[in-house]
Amino acid sequence: MREYLSRLKARDELLVIDREVDPCHELANVAVQLQRKSAKAVLFNRVKGSALPVAINVYSQHDRLCEIIRCEGKTFCERLEEHIQASLGPGPWTREAAAEALHHGKLSDLPLLTHHGRDGGRYITSGIFVAKDPESGVPNLSFHRSQFIADDELRIRLGSSHDLYRYQQVAEQRGEPLEAAILIGAPPEVFMAACVSLPPEGDELALAAAMRGEPLPMRRCQTIGLSVPAEAEIVIEGRILPHERRPEGPFGEFMGYYVEVGDNHVFEVTNVSWRADAVYHGLVCGSHEDLRPLEAATAARIYKHLKSQVRGVLDVSCRPTVMNTIVKIQKAYEGHAQHVLLAAMGSHLDYNKLCIVVDEDVDIYDMEEVVWAFLTRGRADTRTMVLHDVPGFYRDPHKDHWGRLGLDATRPWGREAEFQRKRIPGDETPIDFGAYLAGQNL
Ligand SMILES: Cc1cc2nc3c(=O)[nH]c(=O)nc-3n(C[C@H](O)[C@H](O)[C@H](O)COP(=O)(O)O)c2cc1C
Repeated sequence: MREYLSRLKARDELLVIDREVDPCHELANVAVQLQRKSAKAVLFNRVKGSALPVAINVYSQHDRLCEIIRCEGKTFCERLEEHIQASLGPGPWTREAAAEALHHGKLSDLPLLTHHGRDGGRYITSGIFVAKDPESGVPNLSFHRSQFIADDELRIRLGSSHDLYRYQQVAEQRGEPLEAAILIGAPPEVFMAACVSLPPEGDELALAAAMRGEPLPMRRCQTIGLSVPAEAEIVIEGRILPHERRPEGPFGEFMGYYVEVGDNHVFEVTNVSWRADAVYHGLVCGSHEDLRPLEAATAARIYKHLKSQVRGVLDVSCRPTVMNTIVKIQKAYEGHAQHVLLAAMGSHLDYNKLCIVVDEDVDIYDMEEVVWAFLTRGRADTRTMVLHDVPGFYRDPHKDHWGRLGLDATRPWGREAEFQRKRIPGDETPIDFGAYLAGQNL
């Protein structure tokens, strides 16, 4: 992550804050308010109670995610699928890293943040768990919020649809703990690969290496039998205890509400190490930095499904959160958008609460444009598709996420000429405003 931060700094996309900030609320507050005004990443150099600086808002821009996976003119969805296919091929995907002296310390040496008013305490929100499938040995990367309890204990949230949950169940049935390492400040490709859900045989470390275009340097953990990407700034080693659940929460999570206290898994910490000059990665759950990467990975999965079902699918995005799917198509026949909606609704069992289909001239990364297309390209009543009584997001005791809504926001078939977008001659070329504004700032 440090190299990526240097790159951002070199092109003036990094704000550096030297004033001391409090890790309890103040840092998150400054980060979120800055994020409303600027797309730049932020580095807090002095965080009360810790020697480590905190980087935040690093992955909040879709363009940066495209850069990380080396899109080179392709869409994120297309390019990610290419990397996934490549990662299924022969490696080597990893290599042994050169030895590096590490610092060892306690969890409480880290600048652990408290984000929201009712959060139950300090949380690691950017932690990427590395673990191995106990049956196949295939490694997996995934994010799981972790509440600090003591230097030797974290309480963690394992979503039931994720691989780590399944691994832990297998280990638990054997009466064994599941070893795992938590990476904080992982290399950007590892961060992106951790957002992706591959089928059980998929190796997400190989995917990270495919994104980078070269093998990932790895080092062995010191207290558990796993290897981790050596470039990770901070590594927490430990094991998830079998048959042990303890209260975790409340926590202000990605939908914008608090999840109340629940009995969740217990992670026993066996070692904490960090590189010289390590940077901690803070991340505000539900902020752009949390949502954009997960949206991009989800969109790519939906894109792949749609491409196998219907023709003319150009790109997919999920804005303003993963619950929404926006599909861009080259409409080829009457009813094409309805076919796409049908396929989209079944493309991800957890999400797709709302699916919207638009034409090729609409920017699917701009929700205002998408809504504008629905509002201006035809009637409301006949372009809506409702699917009743289907479960959606898995954590839903009151069925708040049941049902699906589809919107056809494409131009009426056969009347395309009436919906040609107006243009100002020359508007495709960015203007050098300096010549017009004569020294005035925008
Ligand atoms: C920043 C971030 C934080 C996340 N936090 C959690 C979490 O606390 N618990 C959880 O179950 N999933 C969380 N997720 C979702 C999954 O960990 C993530 O989508 C991952 O891809 C799951 O991988 P898997 O399907 O390969 O297991 C988070 C995702 C992101 C991007």
